[in-house]
Order: sequence, then structure tokens, then C-alpha cells
Amino acid sequence: MAVPSTNRKLLNWVAEVQALCKPDSVYWCDGTQAEYDRLMGQLVAAGAAIPLNPAKRPGSVLFRSDPSDVARVENRTYISTRTRDEAGPTNNWVDPVELKKTMSGLYDGCMRGRTMYVIPFSMGPIGSPIAKIGIELTDSIYVVCNMHIMTRVGDRVIETLGADGEFIPCLHSVGAPLKPGQKDVPWPCAPIEQKYISHFPEENLIWSYGSGYGGNALLGKKCLALRIASAIARREGWMAEHMLILRLTNPAGRQFHIAAAFPSACGKTNLAMLQPTIPGWKCECVGDDIAWMKIGPDGRLRAINPEAGFFGVAPGTSYKSNPMAMRTITKNTIFTNCVLTDDKDIWWEDMDEPCAHGIDWKGKEWTPGQKDAEGKSVKGAHPNARFTAPASQCPVICPDWEAPQGVPIDIFIFGGRRTSVMPLVHEALNWDHGVYMGATAASEPTAAALDVKSKLRRDPFAMLPFCGYNMADYWAHWFEMGDKLGSKAPKIFYVNWFRKTSDGRWLWPGFGENSRVLKWMCERVEGKAGAVETPIGMMPRPEDLDVNGLKVSAEDLKELLRVDKDAFRSELPDVEEHFDQFGKRVPARMRAELEVMRKRLA
Ligand code: GTP
Ligand code: SPV
Ligand code: MN
Repeated sequence: MAVPSTNRKLLNWVAEVQALCKPDSVYWCDGTQAEYDRLMGQLVAAGAAIPLNPAKRPGSVLFRSDPSDVARVENRTYISTRTRDEAGPTNNWVDPVELKKTMSGLYDGCMRGRTMYVIPFSMGPIGSPIAKIGIELTDSIYVVCNMHIMTRVGDRVIETLGADGEFIPCLHSVGAPLKPGQKDVPWPCAPIEQKYISHFPEENLIWSYGSGYGGNALLGKKCLALRIASAIARREGWMAEHMLILRLTNPAGRQFHIAAAFPSACGKTNLAMLQPTIPGWKCECVGDDIAWMKIGPDGRLRAINPEAGFFGVAPGTSYKSNPMAMRTITKNTIFTNCVLTDDKDIWWEDMDEPCAHGIDWKGKEWTPGQKDAEGKSVKGAHPNARFTAPASQCPVICPDWEAPQGVPIDIFIFGGRRTSVMPLVHEALNWDHGVYMGATAASEPTAAALDVKSKLRRDPFAMLPFCGYNMADYWAHWFEMGDKLGSKAPKIFYVNWFRKTSDGRWLWPGFGENSRVLKWMCERVEGKAGAVETPIGMMPRPEDLDVNGLKVSAEDLKELLRVDKDAFRSELPDVEEHFDQFGKRVPARMRAELEVMRKRLA
């Protein structure tokens, strides 16, 4: 085929990787539907993809990953900078020269028996002043098809790149070369000790080896749009955040744009597509995972969603919890690690209707309630089973979701999964206090990264696994952005939808009812809603929240809005330890916030 690009840097890099990885052939992706259909057809023919019932789920397929390759692997993720300090204590670090040597050894001949695909993609609407171009080289057709949905792929990217445009090189291999005549497996990947998800932020370079799953392999997502982009954003004075973006319109027609950072599997996709339970309020989705934000000509922070699709958590998604996600995935969707039902549709735990029988994510016969050898009930879908669907299919996608200049952010929300202590909502007293709230955010682990074992971990700004440089410098960057934004800075809030009673009952109904909390925030922005000052920030009294029609007892609501001073005070030594790991790099303003908090809680 004709090589579509004249970009020297790109042609040289493709030739270099070809010489190293030694694929049988090289294919330049054009991003067309015909290409997607042809490639997916190959996977179906090979038995790697299972076509779903076209009457139930047209244009959709199911994949089953290797049981060892089901989520991001944080232990195998590296930020490789010249000095260890630049990566900081919360990132895995290896010297770039050494890491490149090790990985070059693995890459040598790793694509034998396979085709190397060149994927030109844009993160952000092509031509947007906030967008960036990446090129992923991969030997996985699954990755090509997912990238078609998750990013903007094709000739227009090559055109925009031109002869001397800049791009971020993203190299990926599943690390499973084929000998002549060797039959491929449905989900090729390398053993865990050979997996490397490596980033070289000083040269805007990504090298991923050995995994075919999600953020490990779809390199535009966490690798480029968060780890590399966060490092670029710091150098260039903008922000790359693990945040959903939504537009909320009140009954008077005023629009509010909200960006919220929750850790993986803590509710971003759900909040992004929220259906308000309060009359007259409308919610539209701009993005569900990542926000790129620059200060606009009017001095306000403008956000774009760099992605073009959703790579969402499947289990728990239902018409009851997230109807807009359910309607998004009715067609043209790639499912990974879900149950295959007897009528060739998909299913997962906590979907609306029960499933009587099917094939589980490991490809075995499955009936609900089935027990394993140890007597534990076997889940049909993997807890990190996912759907990949075009954002354009979402019924509540915001008409401005592809606006090149982005949407103006009014509100930032931080949060996490805390079954105790953290109240439903509180508001920062000012920007610095808000940065402290983000920096000390904590959450209980989820299936999005199964190698994380702690009971509760600090996950600053939901960026712990995604910050491409020293986390303390990232905090300094947040303070600087606040200074630049001044009076136009978004208001900052902290939420927790996940409080439970001691006997394990959810205190808060969540999902659509979260709109009540968002309404209070919008009214705080307008200066309309009441609040009381507490040691941890401003909080609504029960009468400040719209609880019309809400089925939560007065007692539960009181508990949800209670500040347990003793519990907060007892967490301060942990906060201090959390800061201390960064030593002198912790901004003085962060230390000052801790001291203020100590006084307020005394
Ligand atoms: P990533 O894609 O990994 O970044 O996850 P995410 O932050 O987008 O999380 P998602 O919205 O997919 O939610 C993950 C899980 O949390 C699902 O099982 C949801 O059902 C559950 N969840 C989301 N919102 C709520 C809520 O308000 N209350 C409760 N109890 N559960 C929720
Ligand atoms: C997350 O883990 O935050 C995700 C899924 O959004 S992945 O793309 O695998 O990182
Ligand atoms: Mn995410």
C-alpha cells in the first residue's frame, strides 16, 4: 500500500520500529468504517471476537481476554525520567537507558508472524487548539478497533500532521510473536513479569509491551492523555486531569459546567450521564474520563474531552443505575469479559434482568449462584469487564462536546469510595483549601487495578496512577493554575456517594439522586444556597438540599452530613506521612493548609 504520510520524523520512526519488531507487514490505518469492518471480520474468522445477535446488539462483538490480562497493571507501569526525583516516590522508576535496553530486548522480533498497524489518531477534535496528535504502532487488531472508537483515527490526522507536524509516538506490542505456521490464540499477551507500560515524559514517548487490555494498550487514553499530557501541561501551563465533564442546565436555562475527578471505578461514567431526579434540571455529557483544560481568552478555564468514546465499567451498569450508558451500548459496541447469554447477547452482574444461563468471561458454562471449589460464588462477568462505545451514540451527549474551544468550567469535584468518615458533600473555603482536598483524597481499591491491595489509599486528584511527574510538583502546578485563574477559578467541592451503615447498607441512593448535590453546588456558585461552616469546609444543612421526593430518612441524612471531628483528626498523621514522602518538594502552601486544618479540628 502507498504510505500516506510525508512526515520525516514519522517515516523514520516507523522504519526504525519495523526493523526492531520485525513484523511480517506494515499497514497504515485510514480510520474508515470499511477498515473497521474488515479487521473485525478477521478477528471473528479467527475466533477471537464473538459476533453478538444482530437483532439484539447490531454491530457488536464480545472478546474474552486472557485471565492474566484483565486490568491496568500499576506495578508494571513506569515513569522513566533522567532522575528518580523527577518521577517522584509514587511512580515506579527505572533509568531510561536501562529501561530502553530491557524493552528493546523484548521488542526485538516481537511482531514476527503479525502485521504492524500504524494508527494516526487525534486526542481532541481535529484542529482544536487544545488537541494533540499521537501515532500508535501496534500488532493487535483488537487495539486498532478500540482506537477507532476511542479516538479520532485516520487520514485527516495525517493531513493535519503534514510534513513537519509534531506527534507523540506510542509503541505497543502484545509481546507474543508467532513462529511460521503457529496458530494464534484468541488473546495474545506476555506473562506479567514481561509486561511494561513505560513512559518517557522528557521526550514525549510511550513504550508498552505485553498487555492487550484497556489503559495498558489503548495508548491514547491513560498513557498519552494523562501521563504524558500531564507532563506537557505542566511545561505549557494547562491541565490534563482524570475528570469527567458534564453540563448541567437549571430550570431558568443557566448552564453550569462541572469537571469531577474520582478514582477508577468510582463513578465518573455514571455521573457524566446522570439523569437528574429533580424536575427542570437537565444533564448532558461532554466526557466520562479525561479533561484537558486551558485558560481561554476570557480568563476562564475551558475543557475538552480528548476522547471520542467510552471505555466503561460493565458490571453495575443497568437501566436503573445508568440508563444513558445502556442506551449508548445498544449497537456498534465492543464488549470485553462479559457473559455471553444463550441468545447471543451480553450480560453482567447487576444488569436489570437476571441471566438464567450463559458462558462466563473465561469461556465456561455458567449459571448464577454457581460455586467454585472453595464454595465461593463465581461471577459471570469479570469485575473489570468493559464496553467500548462511540460517545456520539450517547443520547445525552452535549451538543458542544466537540466544540474546539471547550466548555467553561464552573465547578471542580473531587471524591472517592469511602464507606465511612467522609460526608456526602463539602465545599472548599478557597482555592488552596480545595487543592488540599484534592491532594488528600482517598479511596478504597477497586477492580480497575487488581494489583492494588491496600484497604484505603490516598489517591491525590484521582491521579496517583496517572501523573507523569513528581506528584508534589503537580500540586505546585495546581496552586499556580489557581493564581493564574484568580477570581475566575472554579469553585471546589468534595463528594462521597459510598457511605455505608455498619451493617453494610448504602446510606445514599446515589446515581440520579446525586443531582440534588450538584444542584446545591450550582446554587452555591450563584450565591443562592445556604451552608454552614464546619472544620472541613462549607456544608449544606438538610434544609439547604433539595430533598423533595427523596426517600432518605432524616436520620440517614443527618448522618450523611455529619462531620466526625475525631475521625478527621485521627487521619491527620496519615496525611502528614503522605506529604512527607515528597520531602522538600511539598509546596509550603500545602503544609500551611494542613496546619490550618489541624487548628480547625483541634
Ligand atoms: P473508570 O472507567 O475506571 O475510570 O471508572 P468510573 O469512575 O467511570 O466509574 P463508573 O461510573 O463506571 O462506576 C463504577 C462503579 O461504581 C459501578 O459499579 C457503578 O454502578 C458504581 N457507582 C457509580 N455511581 C454510584 C453511586 O452514586 N452510588 C453507588 N452506590 N455506586 C455507584
Ligand atoms: C481506569 O482504570 O481509570 C480506566 C480504565 O478508565 S483503563 O482504560 O483501563 O485505564
Ligand atoms: Mn478512568
